[in-house]
Amino acid sequence: MSKKKVNILGIESSCDDTSAAVISGQIMKSNIIASQEVHKQYGGVVPELASRAHQQNIVPVVDTAIKKAGMTVSDIDAIAFTRGPGLLGSLLVGSSFAKGFALANNVPLIEVNHLQGHVLAHFVKDKETDPEPNFPFLCLLVSGGHSQIIMVHEHLKMEVIGSTIDDAAGEAFDKCAKVMDLPYPGGPVLDKLAQQGNPNAFKFSKPRIDGLNYSFSGLKTSFLYTVRDYLKQDADFIQNNLNDLCASLQYTVVDILMDKLSKAVTQTGVKQIAVAGGVSANSALRKAMIDYGKNEGLDVFIPPFQYTTDNAAMIAIVGYFKYLNQDFAPQSITPMARFSVE
Ligand code: KG4
Ligand code: ZN
Repeated sequence: MSKKKVNILGIESSCDDTSAAVISGQIMKSNIIASQEVHKQYGGVVPELASRAHQQNIVPVVDTAIKKAGMTVSDIDAIAFTRGPGLLGSLLVGSSFAKGFALANNVPLIEVNHLQGHVLAHFVKDKETDPEPNFPFLCLLVSGGHSQIIMVHEHLKMEVIGSTIDDAAGEAFDKCAKVMDLPYPGGPVLDKLAQQGNPNAFKFSKPRIDGLNYSFSGLKTSFLYTVRDYLKQDADFIQNNLNDLCASLQYTVVDILMDKLSKAVTQTGVKQIAVAGGVSANSALRKAMIDYGKNEGLDVFIPPFQYTTDNAAMIAIVGYFKYLNQDFAPQSITPMARFSVE
């Protein structure tokens, strides 16, 4: 007789995406994401509006996720929610919902670190035979709030070996996109425009930081000054050079990211690399990871697009591994705006 698989409902509400997912074992059954359009007009996420939108979205999103999984509430064995890091008001909506669900349905509550979620997204599968990384592996975690190189020793044992000392890679994309008057979030738009541009058209300064740490604030300033200087000669400079500006900026960001990742591979001798977080959706970064892996004979793990930006399947998978350890949270648990991956 086959053993019944554990069904985990995951809830993600750390920023501006309300998401619910159901996984059965490591298999994804549904992963519903309601992105909040309301922030576009403000050029960034407005925390108060985000929490209000989460409140409106959470019930229909969970309902859809359970139905799409072909299940009912009684099939759910445990509920996992994002405890942090993120916007406190947004986290409160997801954590309050999860507590209520656990209490009402008498199932365990599991708290999840959002960053561990991005990393363990590599263990969510469509079918049992899908490959997954072996331990240890190195994960480049690049999102709107984080740029880290993480040594993943076990599912729930991670060590940060490099980290940004200022801005995150996604933040650099978003801030430079704003300079060019592109809509928020700038990363995906910039990626698209860059595909028609010349990556060598403009040179931007690269940081000189020791060790495996990153810095992106100098690049942002270099980009801003370059654009400002050219605008003095040509008021239409941005419009006339948009694709080349995007391609050159993207080339520089990817170069900075890969430079430290390759140093980490040399230093640690680890033969498997993965990339995670919103910026892992970037086409140039995905290509650079694959090319680098091929040249160095490494196994490379690139997440499917739906697991790059914030989603609840990645929260549910962390919940699954914690469920196996019977690592449950009490009803008194509170969200944390700051939360390290370690
Ligand atoms: O992981 P995520 O959804 O949220 C955080 O936890 O921060 O990452 C969002 C970030 C944003 O900065 C966004 O611009 C960036 O990921 N991003 C991209 C792309 N898609 C999303 N950056 C570059 N290229 C993309 N295709
Ligand atoms: Zn994220």
